[in-house]
Amino acid sequence: MENPFYYGTTVSGKSFTNRKQEIKEILADIKSGQNLFIYSPRRYGKTSLIKVVLGKLKKERFATIYLDFYQIYSKERFIDLYSKAIANVTASKMEKIIDFFKRNVKNVVPSITVDVNGKPILQLEYSNRKSTISKLLEDVYQLPQRLAVEKKKKIVVVFDEFQEIRNLNGEQFEKELRANIQHHEKISYVFMGSKTHILLNMFNDENRAFYKIGKMFYLSKLPKRDLISFILKRFMEGSYNINANTAEEICNITKNHPYYTQMLCHEIWEICSDNKEVEERDLNIASDRIVKNQSELYLRIWDNLSIYQKELLIALINSGGESIFSEAYREKNRLPGASTVNKCISVLIEKGIVEKNKDIYEVSDMFLAKWLKSNIV
Ligand SMILES: Nc1ncnc2c1ncn2[C@@H]1O[C@H](COP(=O)(O)OP(=O)(O)OP(=O)(O)O)[C@@H](O)[C@H]1O
Ligand SMILES: [Mg+2]
Repeated sequence: MENPFYYGTTVSGKSFTNRKQEIKEILADIKSGQNLFIYSPRRYGKTSLIKVVLGKLKKERFATIYLDFYQIYSKERFIDLYSKAIANVTASKMEKIIDFFKRNVKNVVPSITVDVNGKPILQLEYSNRKSTISKLLEDVYQLPQRLAVEKKKKIVVVFDEFQEIRNLNGEQFEKELRANIQHHEKISYVFMGSKTHILLNMFNDENRAFYKIGKMFYLSKLPKRDLISFILKRFMEGSYNINANTAEEICNITKNHPYYTQMLCHEIWEICSDNKEVEERDLNIASDRIVKNQSELYLRIWDNLSIYQKELLIALINSGGESIFSEAYREKNRLPGASTVNKCISVLIEKGIVEKNKDIYEVSDMFLAKWLKSNIV
């Protein structure tokens, strides 16, 4: 049997566990036309979760539009990818798609080509003049609403990694988008991202365009109970022998982090593939192997930090992540002033190296922490 533990890409089916409560709540919100703002530190499972939700909505005849802002580095790119995502959900004949775009987007020549799999793809031809682009954008923003009216379909639009919008001409683009979508009553917009403080600034600052646009939804790690039963089930399906205590110990090592739990289990599966007995010492062997395999990456992360950021990271390892701005903490760890510590921690969070849970800061990747302990501290 193939290793059932996956990490890195979004997971679905058997590799995706539970989240029943979250699915229920998000489904209900979207069905009522509520805008949502889903956030969490990196790799907690936002994209996997929303894809499961979109799958369920599709079965209820929702048109689902998903856009990843990491792929969007310019307004032209937004126009292209958003239009394609919208064209994809119409599920109409090609002529109808072209007709829909001709009627609803001025200044553009739509056409259809096919990709290597024979799947039709929309092509838009337009002039790259500034004035054309801004008119074009106005039309493109309205497309989901037009689609909703014409096709009498309910629509949900997901903007993943939405914080990346700040790279597109900053707050001006935010304003335009907000102004254009706020009257779309038939559509539920879901904004998601992992750069939490950038996103929270966007949504909680009353001077910003997206102030209070929707309901805030914080995605937590997986509950330990669910994670344990997930681990046991997957190993047992592969005829591995593993007991509940060992599964719990795995969760203790990974602090219930979905991504790192899958990573550790993946490695354990490989290590124990001969005798199919998972024992406590295999957990250490697997952890050490991960640290070793990742050491090149960790060295690069370390090299890219400033001296103060390095000192702060070491402090988190040595003294934990509570009251890090206090004088006592800073003195003990020979850290600079509170405002510098504040700047450093923001950078570490934005880089995805550190996360904040209930006012305690911690290194997200326990294997990086382990590497730091044995190589730096
Ligand atoms: N419900 C789940 N059950 C089991 N594993 C999960 C679950 N959700 C996420 N994971 C694990 O976490 C990894 C990351 O998931 P995903 O890409 O959905 O997270 P994300 O929050 O969108 O991450 P990013 O911040 O990088 O966009 C997956 O590859 C998988 O290993
Ligand atoms: Mg994601």
